[in-house]
Amino acid sequence: MEEKIIDENRQGEILMHDSLNKGNKKMFIESYGCQMNFSDSEIVASVMHEEGYSPTDTLKDADIVFINTCSIRENAELTIRKRLKQISEDKTKNPNLKVGILGCMAERLKSKLLEEEKLVDLVAGPDAYRKLPELVNEVEGGDKAVNVVLSREETYSNIDPFRINSNGITAFVSIMRGCDNMCTFCVVPFTRGRERSRDPYSIVEEATKLYQQGYKEVTLLGQNVDSYRWSDNPDLMGKALKEAPRDEVVDFAKLLVMVAEISPELRVRFTTSHPKDITDDVLYAMAKYENICNYIHLPAQSGNSRVLELMNRTYTREWYLDKVNRIRELIPDCGISTDIITGFCTETEEEHQDTVSLMELVGYDMAYMYYYSERPGTLAAKKYKDDVSLEDKKRRLQEIINIQNRKSLENYQKSVGKTYKVLIESVARKSDQQLFGRNSQNQGIVFPRENHQLGTYVWVKINKCTQATLIGEVVEAPQN
Ligand code: SAH
Ligand code: SF4
Ligand code: F3S
Repeated sequence: MEEKIIDENRQGEILMHDSLNKGNKKMFIESYGCQMNFSDSEIVASVMHEEGYSPTDTLKDADIVFINTCSIRENAELTIRKRLKQISEDKTKNPNLKVGILGCMAERLKSKLLEEEKLVDLVAGPDAYRKLPELVNEVEGGDKAVNVVLSREETYSNIDPFRINSNGITAFVSIMRGCDNMCTFCVVPFTRGRERSRDPYSIVEEATKLYQQGYKEVTLLGQNVDSYRWSDNPDLMGKALKEAPRDEVVDFAKLLVMVAEISPELRVRFTTSHPKDITDDVLYAMAKYENICNYIHLPAQSGNSRVLELMNRTYTREWYLDKVNRIRELIPDCGISTDIITGFCTETEEEHQDTVSLMELVGYDMAYMYYYSERPGTLAAKKYKDDVSLEDKKRRLQEIINIQNRKSLENYQKSVGKTYKVLIESVARKSDQQLFGRNSQNQGIVFPRENHQLGTYVWVKINKCTQATLIGEVVEAPQN
């Protein structure tokens, strides 16, 4: 079988599709990794739906399975390799099933994936989804197909995502792609390419449409939302755009306001913020608009300034703590969460203790915590020695997990007795007589179902809590 690599030179090429089969094919899409990947899967579903593919949630019915992959840590890739083994067994029952690998692992490994995983028919990187129909067409013709071209412009701004697995209440809206930060541990700049911002008017249009369809919450997504920057002035490209005065561009604070003004009934969340880039203007917008949720995911990665420098995070421990203080000054009830990596190259026990003390000081509401996993091709892999033993990495990780569990419980306990406006998202997992929703601070709240409807707002008084949930009852809206 011939392996075809589609490159930019073929962008204008018109390929014939099998129109006889159009309309009755099925795709099974499985996503791994961050919210950006889940959001991208909705772009994939949309592009393929246009070609007559409808989504199915049973693999055995599918003509093609797309696995949208993550490369962030070695374990993420191992999970996908295991999944491919299972699929290879399924394929014996459904020999016509085609297998497509999408996303970050596709981008990282490129056509090597076809050599390493024999059952894979198609490899497409995160900027190649518009080309999926052509690639699938080649695969249906018996060839293998690869497109891992990264783009400086692609934002899929005119593609209306096909909301798979949606609850009809909350949705992700991608506002930018790629990342220019080059944190030394991170594979994302290599798998997702250069940072680019999406046209704000297309973002507002998408969010407005969601609101009109009954959605009540949008989460604006990007690897580094605070560096969102857009202008329709063609002279403002690249560096010039970054340095242009604020009144000549749409920055993240302005975008937030544009989306918040769609309706006070539409909640706006965003992720991820980079501590170096989040501005007072963003915090002012959050403080001013009730529907911009008081919650910031602010990954610290480490509490030690030397380690932060090695990571190329471009801030110090003190700078990070000042940022947290500023957030709390302007938005006193703001929920704050973080990401932490333990055992980064050369991290000493003493430096790890700085992370411990940072977590004690900030008292995060939630944290994603990992031990360092060296990623091939990253600056850390090239420049530093991955010299902390796995045992130490894991012990340090367990230590911070224990702190976070305690802090999460303490923070939940502080919410007991308070009353919050809650958006009802679903029936509670443990009982269909209970409902589940979130407050502005992103805390999960469970309360009796009564006659309350999904997708509406209620006021809930918190009576007690567990480590992961607040438990309360619906009360009258406070008068003020
Ligand atoms: N853009 C976001 C995070 C993207 S990746 C940010 O800048 O914070 C999500 C998280 O995975 C990171 O915050 C980091 O904590 C973790 N991570 C990234 N690379 C990693 C690696 N090589 N080993 C362990 N954790 C890693
Ligand atoms: Fe990775 Fe850093 Fe970019 Fe986040 S900001 S995606 S950690 S390089
Ligand atoms: Fe993973 Fe790619 Fe997201 S590496 S975390 S899926 S950007």
